[in-house]
Parts: sequence; structure tokens; C-alpha cells
Amino acid sequence: MAEFTLPKNSKLIPGNHFPAPAGAKNVRTFRIYRWSPDSGDNPRVDTYEIDLGACGPMVLDALLKIKNEVDSTLTFRRSCREGICGSCAMNIDGTNTLACTKAIGDCPSGDVKIFPLPHMPVVKDLVPDLTHFYAQHASIKPWIRTQTPPPPDRERLQSKQDRAKLDGLYECILCACCSTACPSYWWNSDRYLGPAILLQAYRWIVDSRDEDTGARLDELEDPFKLYRCHTIMNCARTCPKGLNPAKAIAEIKKLIVERAS
Ligand code: SF4
Ligand code: SF4
Ligand code: FES
Repeated sequence: MAEFTLPKNSKLIPGNHFPAPAGAKNVRTFRIYRWSPDSGDNPRVDTYEIDLGACGPMVLDALLKIKNEVDSTLTFRRSCREGICGSCAMNIDGTNTLACTKAIGDCPSGDVKIFPLPHMPVVKDLVPDLTHFYAQHASIKPWIRTQTPPPPDRERLQSKQDRAKLDGLYECILCACCSTACPSYWWNSDRYLGPAILLQAYRWIVDSRDEDTGARLDELEDPFKLYRCHTIMNCARTCPKGLNPAKAIAEIKKLIVERAS
């Protein structure tokens, strides 16, 4: 499980406490990381007591309730609220996951602890800075690269069998839960691409319509970009879409070995 790590030399200061409304019968406490670069203050953890009788079932519902009714300064990302956009990724009770698909009832008893994705710069509160992560995604050129001209009368087609090779890969929503749970990525993210981007790289390598497999493997055959994966498997354990980036990484390594032999 990924643990949130505070930035070096920072200390959590006591946070604000927002009690449950009078008459609330089913109260759950949420402890949420707060930090604003504009304030100049150290990070803190604020405590919000929420009446679950007047709240939707998901952690994102609780965050929205807090923002709409209790404390409008709380900042987080969300869009689709159904596990498609990847923007509500955060660390809930020690595990990176999506707030919109994580049921409050599935959080272990006690306070629900919510932190930003670990080991990423924080823009504000629960919003990580994913600039570098997206730049790494762009670096693998995530689109079909071709050498031949397209057929004049139709799209580039794919057999059902070839299409099936993308199952377990195309579902990735680039939420970054896996990469920010990967110890190798924590320590080497400047050069190691990490599980999310490597799964994406493999998605294009195995696409039968792509004609640049050799160059793609050349670009990945690097001691840091690919070979920092030590098969720790945090990535597969945390992926909220049930994908297995470690397996995709192993397949890339296998292809590199096979073409050399
Ligand atoms: S592999 Fe899973 S955890 Fe990683 S970015 Fe894709 S959807 Fe998110
Ligand atoms: S298997 Fe590889 S990519 Fe996945 S968490 Fe471990 S080191 Fe990171
Ligand atoms: S809001 Fe889109 S994945 Fe959670």
C-alpha cells in the first residue's frame, strides 16, 4: 500500500474541525490533507464530520458535500464521477484510488483519511501536479505511427484477434494511481517512465496497425526508462481499473530479449 509522505522539512500543523450538524445520526469523520502555496503555512489535516444520512455513497460524494455545504476552500479534481476521466485519483486510507468509485462503506472503520497522490508535487490540497507525468506520456508518442500509406477506401482495419490484444490495456484512464504507488517511480521519476506510461507504451507496441514497433522498443531500451521496474507489483495492486502494468512491462522486456536473440 502506498503511504503518503510529507515533503522534507514540513510538519503537519493542527487543522480545522468542522462538527456534524445538530441531529445527525450517522456520522463519519473525514480527515483531509490541506495545503495552499499562497498561504505560506505548513500543510495541515482538517477534520470534517459528515452526516452520511444526507450524503451520497462514494468518497467523492462526501468531498462534494464538504465543498458545497461546509468548506468551499477544499480543492480537488473531478469530472465524470464514474471512473472514466481519472481526475479524482487520490490516496484514500493508504491506497491510491478513484474517489468516485470508492464507496465510503468500503473504507475501514474509523476516520477516512484522504491525501493527495504520494510523491508528487502538490498544487493545492488534493490536486497533484501531473505536468511531468503527462510529458512522459507525450514522450512515447501515444498514437498510431505508420510507414505505409493508408488504404484509399477505408480505415486501417484490425482482426478481432488483434483487437483482443488491446484488452487490459485500452481501459487505462491515465489516473496515475499506479505510478504514484511505485517505489521505483518515487525515487527515479525523472528518468524512469513508470507503470502507467509503460503500459501505454505497450498498448501501442501490440497494436497491429502500428508500424513502428522497432523504433518504439529502441526508445524504451534504456536502463532507466524501462529497467527500473523491479516487479514489486504495487502498480497492479492499486489500479482502480483492475489492470496489470507490471505484466505489460514484462512483455516489453520479453520483446526486447526476443528481438536480440
Ligand atoms: S494502469 Fe490503472 S492505475 Fe495506472 S494509470 Fe492506468 S488506470 Fe490508472
Ligand atoms: S512492478 Fe514495476 S512498475 Fe509496478 S510497482 Fe513494481 S517496480 Fe513499479
Ligand atoms: S471523477 Fe472521473 S474518474 Fe473519478
